[in-house]
Amino acid sequence: MRERPSSRREGVGIVRHYSLLTHETSFLEDVLAGLARPQKAIPPKYFYDERGSQLFERICELPEYYPTRTELAIMDRHVDEMAALLGPDTQLVEFGSGAGVKTRLLVDRLEPSLYVPIDIAESTLREACKRLALMFPWLNISAVLADFARPVRLPEFVGVPVRRKVVYFPGSTIGNFTPDEAVAFLEGVRELVGAGGMLLIGVDLKKDKRVLDAAYDDAQGVTAEFNLNLLHRINRELGGDFQVKRFRHKAFYDEHKGWIEMHLESLYSQFAHVAGRRFDFRVGETIHSEISCKYSVEEFQALAARARFHAEKVWTDPANLFAVHAMIAV
Ligand code: TRP
Repeated sequence: MRERPSSRREGVGIVRHYSLLTHETSFLEDVLAGLARPQKAIPPKYFYDERGSQLFERICELPEYYPTRTELAIMDRHVDEMAALLGPDTQLVEFGSGAGVKTRLLVDRLEPSLYVPIDIAESTLREACKRLALMFPWLNISAVLADFARPVRLPEFVGVPVRRKVVYFPGSTIGNFTPDEAVAFLEGVRELVGAGGMLLIGVDLKKDKRVLDAAYDDAQGVTAEFNLNLLHRINRELGGDFQVKRFRHKAFYDEHKGWIEMHLESLYSQFAHVAGRRFDFRVGETIHSEISCKYSVEEFQALAARARFHAEKVWTDPANLFAVHAMIAV
């Protein structure tokens, strides 16, 4: 990392931790309700326990999983331009900060007044903050443990001058919402940053079905393990008795819907209990666990416009696999 003269780098940052996780975020209630539906479903936020977070980091390094390395390359190549566009004295809020590899590039160049990572996985969040604080001793961090599938109300962080709020939302996590949910989420972001605030967001592009299918069903079976870990987690934490070997990972790109669908498919006619309640499965019946929407540049710009974000600039890789959009709240 290059050292540049900067007054901010002389200060000593403060790291604070906040938890906005309420009892409403109930794994048990969500699983019981989800398994009672005609199309069984479990919200994807429950992927990220300790084991799930580790598996996800392995997914990001798989040869088939192009998004992480492609987005990182886009950031690496254009981060100076991004930082110049976002400007000085920012409050940088990151949703789903995870292990925070891309964040390092941005923080290094942007030098935000305050960095606010938001994630649902507590240990991942704490470790990422520790690493960042070591790398950037001048950085003020207010880490927030929260579930951003619901509206997040951040406290007004005081004590640092902020000219502009910027939301960073990498990883094409926006694709894990349906398009309508994505608009609702972006409306919340719009409210958070206010008029003139900015959004820097990584969005996976539409592409050949074979490339997409492989990205979500890799040869080593890491994505399968990640998906099946949901059932292990239910067994561990909710007194479940799923016979995990009797389910398989199923993921495919639906070209009409423009999204990847991930399911856990029952290989047998069987039942399982969760917290004493019984759930039956037919052969081939699935638990829906995730979608991952893919958007062309124009589609995403139109979607964001519904939440009053105006496209400012977009960067893509030479193979047109992935896009990073800079948008301004109008
Ligand atoms: N935001 C990521 C995506 O949609 C999340 C993700 C990547 C994922 N690989 C996965 C989720 C595999 C579940 C399973 O691409």
